[in-house]
Amino acid sequence: MNACNDWLKVCSLASLGKNALEPKEINGIPVLVINGDERRLVIPRSCPHMSASLVDGVFDGHVLTCTKHLWQWSIDGGGTEMGIGEAPLLCYETREENGDLYCRVTEELRYEHEDEDF
Ligand code: FES
Repeated sequence: MNACNDWLKVCSLASLGKNALEPKEINGIPVLVINGDERRLVIPRSCPHMSASLVDGVFDGHVLTCTKHLWQWSIDGGGTEMGIGEAPLLCYETREENGDLYCRVTEELRYEHEDEDF
């Protein structure tokens, strides 16, 4: 990853698979890159509900579903909760430039209950 001020290059956009959920590490912090049809997000890997791994979630390009209790989020909407979901996804700040995805990770984003199943 290349530093550009405090922005770090995560990967090239072309390297991301369609509708991919790709685990990466940025500054030693585990993150999940979501490659949506309309938008890309970089989030913590754990679910905001009970910390199941979202690496194993189901993603159709627009909606991410945690397979443990079926909470859902709109990726087009920036991680807002949908359906029975009760909390939004935490998202790292990202930008895209010259075909690359950059992320600003100054500290690890955590949900308050990171204590099980991850
Ligand atoms: S742990 Fe993800 S919905 Fe419950």
